[in-house]
Amino acid sequence: MAEARSHPGAIGNRFLSYWAKSAEGRREPPLTEGLECDAAVIGGGIVGVTAAFRLAQGGASVVLLEARRIGAGATGFTTAKVSSLHGLTYASLESSLGEETARTYAEANEAGLAEIASLIDEHSIECDFRRKPNFTYSESEAGRSSVHDEADAARRAGLAATAVDDLDLPYAVSAAVRVDGQAEFHPLKYLHAVAAAAGDLGARIHEGTRVVSLDQGDPCRIVTEGGAVVRAGHVIVATHLPIFDRGLFFARTHPERSYVLLAKLRGEVPHGMYLSDERPAHSLRAVSTEDGERLMVGGESHKSGQSDPAERFRALEAWARERFDVEAVEHRWATQDNMPADGLPFIGRLWPFTERVSTATALRKWGLAMGTSAAKILADGVLGIENGWATTFSPMRLHPIAGGVDFVKENANAGFHFVADRLTRRTSASDLSPGEGAVVGAGLRQRAVYRDESGELQSLSARCTHLGCIVGFNSAERTWDCPCHGSRFALDGTVIEGPAVHGLESRD
Ligand SMILES: Cc1cc2nc3c(=O)[nH]c(=O)nc-3n(C[C@H](O)[C@H](O)[C@H](O)COP(=O)(O)OP(=O)(O)OC[C@H]3O[C@@H](n4cnc5c(N)ncnc54)[C@H](O)[C@@H]3O)c2cc1C
Ligand code: FES
Repeated sequence: MAEARSHPGAIGNRFLSYWAKSAEGRREPPLTEGLECDAAVIGGGIVGVTAAFRLAQGGASVVLLEARRIGAGATGFTTAKVSSLHGLTYASLESSLGEETARTYAEANEAGLAEIASLIDEHSIECDFRRKPNFTYSESEAGRSSVHDEADAARRAGLAATAVDDLDLPYAVSAAVRVDGQAEFHPLKYLHAVAAAAGDLGARIHEGTRVVSLDQGDPCRIVTEGGAVVRAGHVIVATHLPIFDRGLFFARTHPERSYVLLAKLRGEVPHGMYLSDERPAHSLRAVSTEDGERLMVGGESHKSGQSDPAERFRALEAWARERFDVEAVEHRWATQDNMPADGLPFIGRLWPFTERVSTATALRKWGLAMGTSAAKILADGVLGIENGWATTFSPMRLHPIAGGVDFVKENANAGFHFVADRLTRRTSASDLSPGEGAVVGAGLRQRAVYRDESGELQSLSARCTHLGCIVGFNSAERTWDCPCHGSRFALDGTVIEGPAVHGLESRD
């Protein structure tokens, strides 16, 4: 098993995922010189890697630029179910956006699942891919009718969904939606293999290469933190929440951070994949490790930067121990994904006035099958191939009724933090214990101060480099997290995840 610390995805990640610890992947060199290509892909998660593969397969000259390591973002920290059943989604999509949209959503997800299975087959990828039934269940009598409604709506959307009332879980459920033929896998074993296949087709892959600026044009001009310039006919920004956001995606989505643990049980691990209808929901699946079968438990989501992660880790473990005979919790980690205001991912143009720059975001914590189809939509756009799903997911769509209330709420929430977090911080760092951090000072002079294990104070500007909200200390992961749009920074100020592109500045 790879040493956790040797994985550069570990930058800023105090808790590495089981996936990152058990699949090292091939290391790719940083980009040190300028180059020209048909297409540049920024970001090496499921969207970026799959898009680079498809572009190379389509005959384009392509370069993929990844700030950290391939899979260092959400894709390396997911629960890795590959499925078209997404909790209670279809009934709500159908009622807000119509049956046709719900059908397209199901079709794109089914196609993503099929594409993953066929790549695994064609390239003999060993990634613990197992076909499993996926369930959305309710424990309460009140949830029974929503579960039945979801099964009906999922069937109308084209999935072979059924309603059942018994699961192989050690606690009672009132009802569940069941869809067979779904899958689980090891996301990083898969991703590394697809990246290698893209490389074999001629794609250039550069890790440790953070992009810091992008200008549209013919060609577009990309500059990396190290100063290399890439000139590309098309650019796919696959950075999770897009950087260089002129389409105001940060205002049409909100990031949710969730927690995951891998537990050894006394007794059998349930066979299927499960998601509860609770708020926040809990997610379960089995994982085949080199030490035997383990149970993965996920949940306790909250808006990024707006809760105490240490408390959420404790709550998740308590939830698991109440329901299962847990012998030991062996791994734990956290990650986040972006939730769209109107329930649909955004896939297509990043900037309103050019077709040369595109993105995929807001994959709603279901980005593996959908991210694979998103990569197809984006790559088809570059290769000039018509794609039947593109209009449905276009970021240029307007769904004022479905998205309006949430849009206003999300932006009011970010606005509240922009103002309130400037007023409510402590005045001195003198009482910080080693390992503790806090925002100190007031107004424009607020600093993010951390006392390291040797007792030294490290001081950074507390102003997020995205749009200026004040970061907060994440005591569990020891990072600085922004409550507005989800940017996260390591203790030395380095960006862990965007939309910020630049790190927090050092302050004396
Ligand atoms: C707790 C949790 C559980 C989940 N479970 C599931 C699941 O079971 N099934 C499922 O389908 N989905 C699941 N998801 C969602 C899924 O993991 C994500 O939607 C998906 O991985 C997003 O992929 P991505 O390629 O868009 O982003 P990422 O994987 O985050 O990739 C973006 C990449 O861009 C890089 N990057 C960022 N900025 C720059 C820059 N300036 N220059 C260069 N590179 C940059 C990052 O380092 C990163 O590697 C889950 C999400 C969460 C939060
Ligand atoms: S992420 Fe937008 S202001 Fe911090």
